[in-house]
Amino acid sequence: MARPDAKGAREQRKSTESQPGRPDELALLDALCAKATTEKQAAQILDRVLEQLVRPWHHSIFWGDRLLTLDKSAAFADDEVFRAALAEARSSTGANQYASPDGISWRFNTLIWAARSCLSVPGDFVECGVYRGDMTWMITRNVAMKNSGKVFCLYDTFSGFDTRYSSEADFSGGRQAFDATNTGSIAD
Ligand SMILES: C[S@@+](CC[C@H](N)C(=O)[O-])C[C@H]1O[C@@H](n2cnc3c(N)ncnc32)[C@H](O)[C@@H]1O
Repeated sequence: MARPDAKGAREQRKSTESQPGRPDELALLDALCAKATTEKQAAQILDRVLEQLVRPWHHSIFWGDRLLTLDKSAAFADDEVFRAALAEARSSTGANQYASPDGISWRFNTLIWAARSCLSVPGDFVECGVYRGDMTWMITRNVAMKNSGKVFCLYDTFSGFDTRYSSEADFSGGRQAFDATNTGSIAD
């Protein structure tokens, strides 16, 4: 996909390029921006910048699932039980132009936090759309479900969305978001 605001970016570049005393490295960056005209190229550059320019200046980076944090605590990543469970799960972000080295592990951690919080709430657990069960796996490995007395019900069509109830129009991210969520048959 071509950059939507390429004209605006070109004009902005022209005005900044002509600034006297502009450092060489920024001129190189301007040249790079002029070359990178597709979404894929822009994503590759961001990934490279994060790895090679940003990471060395920070004690921690989380980058995955379109979530970027700098110098924020992600203690869950060091928890042995979490790590062991994560090693057995798929942490894929689905369709994503970025490298996403940390996958969806932050999302898993939020899910575990929510499930732990719900242990003290009356009622059972229901997961709608388990697919291959990665989220179910992360919850059952990390949350004390067994002794809670709660039932954990897992539902799925196992054949993707039912077209009577879900379509591309339901997703603000359009076709790409729809396809990424509508994982299709588990036998695929
Ligand atoms: C993005 S996947 C879920 C991912 C999963 N929670 C995991 O841990 O990886 C969405 C799932 O929802 C299922 N699904 C879609 N519509 C459904 C419906 N109406 N009832 C039950 N499951 C549905 C799909 O078959 C698909 O497996």
